[in-house]
Amino acid sequence: MPAPSHAWLPPRRTQEIRSYTPRFRVSELTRDRLGALLPRYAVTSLPVDPPAAFGRPGEVVFEIGSGHGAAALAYAAAHPFASVLAVEVHVPGVARMLAAADDAGVTNLRVYVGDAVDLLSAGLPPASVDRIHLFFPDPWPKRRHEKRRLVQRHTLDRMAGVLAPGGVLLIGTDHPVYADHARALLAAHPDFTARETHRPEWKPLDGFEAKGLHAGRPPVYPGGAPTP
Ligand SMILES: C[S@@+](CC[C@H](N)C(=O)[O-])C[C@H]1O[C@@H](n2cnc3c(N)ncnc32)[C@H](O)[C@@H]1O
Repeated sequence: MPAPSHAWLPPRRTQEIRSYTPRFRVSELTRDRLGALLPRYAVTSLPVDPPAAFGRPGEVVFEIGSGHGAAALAYAAAHPFASVLAVEVHVPGVARMLAAADDAGVTNLRVYVGDAVDLLSAGLPPASVDRIHLFFPDPWPKRRHEKRRLVQRHTLDRMAGVLAPGGVLLIGTDHPVYADHARALLAAHPDFTARETHRPEWKPLDGFEAKGLHAGRPPVYPGGAPTP
């Protein structure tokens, strides 16, 4: 009998509504990859001290919901002096990202397997992150599921708290409902100055972004910077 999905995740520290459904299968390949690679790439104890976790100072990039890791890996490869901390609850996606990191010899990547809200709540020191990336979050487009979206007033409060002065929050989405939701919350947030940007050149066109584009939903990149 395989272990239930949630058995692969650390106990949640937050009482907040989940922005994900913890349901996935863990194949033998995933199990083998995790066994071989998590010891090298995972951060498991909170709070994370980024310079200690990466063994050096550097630009800290926190990617929330990294999926199978294409964006995290591309950023890490294009910015070798950056320290990319990815967080993801989908264990098979993490295993795929770590296998690709290992193949490509990427060393400036770490992963926290668990709920990003735990990291945002008390898992990262104040002003310790230069960039937060949130790419193609689950849209939860129905009004009754709105509370499950990762972008909420309280998560923005915490993002503002962990971002260093001059930092950036970059959100990518192909869902007009989510884009409007994020824009409205950012515009109303006292600690953010909303800033829409272009699609980043370093980001591969794949995963949910590619699916959205293929389905006729071009991506947009709302975001913000901490208000000085
Ligand atoms: C729609 S997928 C997008 C994946 C990837 N960013 C992309 O652009 O292809 C959303 C991802 O966010 C993850 N996720 C959702 N809520 C999360 C949370 N609270 N903490 C960590 N990961 C989360 C999901 O498991 C899923 O892999």
